[in-house]
Amino acid sequence: MPASVTEQFAWFSWCRSGFEPELAAELQARCAGSGLHGYARAVRDLGFVQYIGESAAQLEQLDPRQLIFARASFLQHLHLSGLDPNDRLGPLLESLPDAFPGQRFGRLQIEHADSDSGRPLSSLARALGNALRGELRRRGWLDPSDNDRKPRLHIGLLSGNEMVVGRAQSAWGPAWPGGIPRLRSHPDAPSRSALKLEEALLVLLTDTERETWLKPGMRAADLGAAPGGWSWVLAHKHHVQVSAIDNGPLADSALATGLITHLREDGFNWHPAKPLEWMVCDMVEQPIRVADRMATWLREGWCRRSIFNLKLPMKKRWDETQRCLDLIQHQSGRSIELRARQLYHDREEITVFAG
Ligand SMILES: C[S@@+](CC[C@H](N)C(=O)[O-])C[C@H]1O[C@@H](n2cnc3c(N)ncnc32)[C@H](O)[C@@H]1O
Repeated sequence: MPASVTEQFAWFSWCRSGFEPELAAELQARCAGSGLHGYARAVRDLGFVQYIGESAAQLEQLDPRQLIFARASFLQHLHLSGLDPNDRLGPLLESLPDAFPGQRFGRLQIEHADSDSGRPLSSLARALGNALRGELRRRGWLDPSDNDRKPRLHIGLLSGNEMVVGRAQSAWGPAWPGGIPRLRSHPDAPSRSALKLEEALLVLLTDTERETWLKPGMRAADLGAAPGGWSWVLAHKHHVQVSAIDNGPLADSALATGLITHLREDGFNWHPAKPLEWMVCDMVEQPIRVADRMATWLREGWCRRSIFNLKLPMKKRWDETQRCLDLIQHQSGRSIELRARQLYHDREEITVFAG
């Protein structure tokens, strides 16, 4: 069967495997809210969702940075199938000039899903990337070295003989394949949860915000702190003084920072005597109860900014997400910005910034 190359415009978004229905519901709701006509195509456990629309210009009315359940997104232009394993790149190279007339890209990103069917494609993605990068540069379609001021060319490998091709603006998110940051666990970190807060600070804040909003000597509270991963990130990496609220014990490496005070209190009752710069919260509780407490902190001015987790229920997770974020928006009593994302290090939960 010869290769088939079809023009197909869609938002193509990678997500956590199993969360395709949530991302499809979110895309449907946000696109409808932006007056976009189209439909979401999702298959459970594949690790991606497509929202098929009419044209790139029409789809671009959506800002993919708003998406909570997408790790990364690009605007798909082409769908290629039936590719010959001996010549996967030929049909692609032939179709690129018509799909992106006159476009020179700053970076090439070949990705695959973070799912059972997607992960085995990683070495093929690497090999195709190496071959294609050289060829695109030779033809002048890609800058000689990575350039984040220009659009990126994205290729999503769906199987050994099928791929989607699209483009993304660098402002839509960092150039992490599949939206997955490569963070290494620190040997002193009290828990793997530390990576979750590290990722949240990278994904939910800009570089400038991180520099100005997290300074040595600032004060924070960590609700549900034990064994101390999040407190340790704030203290060890940012030199922030932390009140760590939890009945459970803190790891020695957290206490050894000298910047963490352990308070055996109930995170739903305790509040600081004086306003703090930050409050972070990783308490395992019903999301609506956590959302209500976060809104109280913001309304009372006990903290200026917050990062917290909402553990999602088994069903109707998109509905519950909206319910919690609406509650915070309406009950915090001031105009706040909410940014939410299901991070790579999040499982059945999302992480929210409020400030
Ligand atoms: C997922 S763990 C937190 C992990 C921590 N963020 C870290 O990085 O190591 C959840 C913690 O919330 C605490 N927790 C649950 N309900 C709480 C409450 N009402 N008050 C204080 N802590 C609570 C639990 O004791 C548990 O240690």
